[in-house]
Amino acid sequence: MAAALKLSSLFPLFSLLCFVSIFLLLSIFRKASISSSATQPKFIQFRPIDPIATPRSDPTAAGDSYCDYSDGSWVYDPDARFDRYDSSCKEIFKGWNCILNNKSNGGDIVKWQWKPRDCHLPPFDPIKFLHTYRDTNIGFIGDSLNRNMFVSLFCTLKRASNDVKKWRPAGADRGFTFVHYNFTIAYHRTNLLARYVRWSANANGGQLEALGYTEGYRVDVDIPESTWEKAPSFHDILVFNTGHWWWAPSKFNPVKSPMLFFEKGLPVIPPIPPVVGLDKVLKHMTQFVEKTMRPGAIKLFRTQSPRHFEGGDWDQGGSCQRLQPLLPEEVEELFSLKNNGTNVETRLMNQNLYEALEGSSILILDITRMSEFRADAHPSTAGGKKHEDCMHWCLPGVTDSWNDLFAAHLNRLKIRN
Ligand SMILES: *[C@@H]1O[C@H](CO)[C@@H](O)[C@H](O)[C@H]1NC(C)=O
Ligand SMILES: *[C@@H]1O[C@H](CO)[C@@H](O)[C@H](O)[C@H]1NC(C)=O
Ligand SMILES: *[C@@H]1O[C@H](CO)[C@@H](O)[C@H](O)[C@H]1NC(C)=O
Repeated sequence: MAAALKLSSLFPLFSLLCFVSIFLLLSIFRKASISSSATQPKFIQFRPIDPIATPRSDPTAAGDSYCDYSDGSWVYDPDARFDRYDSSCKEIFKGWNCILNNKSNGGDIVKWQWKPRDCHLPPFDPIKFLHTYRDTNIGFIGDSLNRNMFVSLFCTLKRASNDVKKWRPAGADRGFTFVHYNFTIAYHRTNLLARYVRWSANANGGQLEALGYTEGYRVDVDIPESTWEKAPSFHDILVFNTGHWWWAPSKFNPVKSPMLFFEKGLPVIPPIPPVVGLDKVLKHMTQFVEKTMRPGAIKLFRTQSPRHFEGGDWDQGGSCQRLQPLLPEEVEELFSLKNNGTNVETRLMNQNLYEALEGSSILILDITRMSEFRADAHPSTAGGKKHEDCMHWCLPGVTDSWNDLFAAHLNRLKIRN
């Protein structure tokens, strides 16, 4: 993510602030999670907004319609052949190319296959996908984890159809049209979805100045970042995410450079913590999308991608050197809120997401549960950085399975209409 920062001097103050905000968070959640089960906290089972999973009166969608693709396990097949794409796909960001970077299990990662518990997840068929989505535009809108998913889809489709035009539709960071199919995919880079800029105190004073703020980031909760503001009117299918940057003190340092939220151009007073700002952003962005989208557009919000730092955070020597997926009990140990582990933001983020999107027309694409197992599938030391990368995913890898789920979800929506 961002460059390293000397936190040592700030650390005591910092931990106090973390403690206070986690404490606040926990007291908010206590209300919502009284009945957590022993093995799984309630919010992971809580899937209020998956209307596509319950089309009870639709006979054509029988069978698989009750399937929850996100509930299952990873099964190892030593003879699995992976011919979806390979490490020569140019779009793979260098640090994610674990095979070229000689990560010891780089080739093994795709031998683990996701098997939903109660149903069959069809293998991704790129030709069929391109046929089905002829004259369609798909936009991935979010942080580098959404780019990771975008790259996986691009490489998969490119293998089936070579005739691509590279361009940047509707303000995208990168994009491609598969000319023969008039099919476009693009990645719109945005960390918070909302627009944010550096903020410093004004010499003439103001409400934030009066409260002692001198530096920070102004986050306009009701203004989309310009990188994607045109995306809803361009794309037919939108895949959103946001997450890691809301828990990134190296950039949005709660002391030195806090997030300062603005609404209708004015500072929100009293100032609110990031987790409350996130709720406001999600509400406003949902309204913005519903107002500006193409008629009939499909909108999915991808749930939080888990990180797997163990033994410290990314800037504290944390690492992810496992060569096999975690066992279910290890997943709980690493991610349960109760343990307040290094990667606790995964489930906190989802809780916010589920609440904010409830009742909206945005559907959830739940990839969290399946990905929580895959501590083996990050670039780790093969990421080529000073710190281990336990956040992004090796390609080929886990985001290929996200796209399997994505295709299955889209297919279900199609059957339904
Ligand atoms: C959670 O973990 C953070 C960072 O390790 C720590 O500073 C904080 O005190 C913990 N909070 C709770 C409620 O245990
Ligand atoms: C990976 O291994 C190959 C073959 O041993 C070597 O040529 C290449 O330089 C290595 N790549 C990296 C990034 O270490
Ligand atoms: C390509 O698809 C777009 C919709 O995304 C459509 O408006 C346009 O007419 C199509 N072009 C052709 C040549 O079919």
